[in-house]
Amino acid sequence: MKPLNIAVVVGSIRKDSYNRQFAQALVKLLPADVQAHFIRIDDLPLYNQDSDGAPPVPAVARLRDEVAAADGVLFVTAEYNRSIPGVLKNAIDQASRPWGQSKWAGKPAAVAGVSIGAIGTAVAQAHLRSVLGFLAMPELGQPEMYLTWKEGLVVDGEIGPASREHVQKFVDAFVGWVRQHVG
Ligand code: FNR
Repeated sequence: MKPLNIAVVVGSIRKDSYNRQFAQALVKLLPADVQAHFIRIDDLPLYNQDSDGAPPVPAVARLRDEVAAADGVLFVTAEYNRSIPGVLKNAIDQASRPWGQSKWAGKPAAVAGVSIGAIGTAVAQAHLRSVLGFLAMPELGQPEMYLTWKEGLVVDGEIGPASREHVQKFVDAFVGWVRQHVG
């Protein structure tokens, strides 16, 4: 089968982010012919529509190129105040412009997230799905992947045994979803 390139966008930029730890462990469950590429978002300037007519600064150009090169996009996001963190929305906005040149359009996507709360980013994910719908990104509906961070979820950089089957099902569904869309 054709090798796939998955862009992973983590909606938290803190050093010890649970979402990054989870995402790094999750990508180890991808099949050998699927490569994951973590997209950097912590050095992006705040999106300003005045910049649409000018050549993008290097960090924005890099983001747009990396999204354009992806066969699919996996968002793994924190929940801030019952929505997505501003850093993630900023990255989404940056790669969505100039108008008519969005790099997200048509990219199959899946959404996951980890929080310390009981509902494990469910509200942030609902908000993110609304944004992805507008961006014309086909979204994996099921299985959903809401997780509360707890000891044992990630063990020595791997998904812990209690959650592995659950996360593997999500990973397999996402890879199937991307393959359906890239042909
Ligand atoms: C949070 N946190 C949080 N958790 C949650 O389940 N729902 C929420 O709405 C919020 N809101 C929120 C706002 C802000 C500004 C912060 C800093 C935190 C807690 C959040 O789940 C926790 O900080 C996680 O550790 C964030 O994910 P990362 O950074 O570890 O990936």
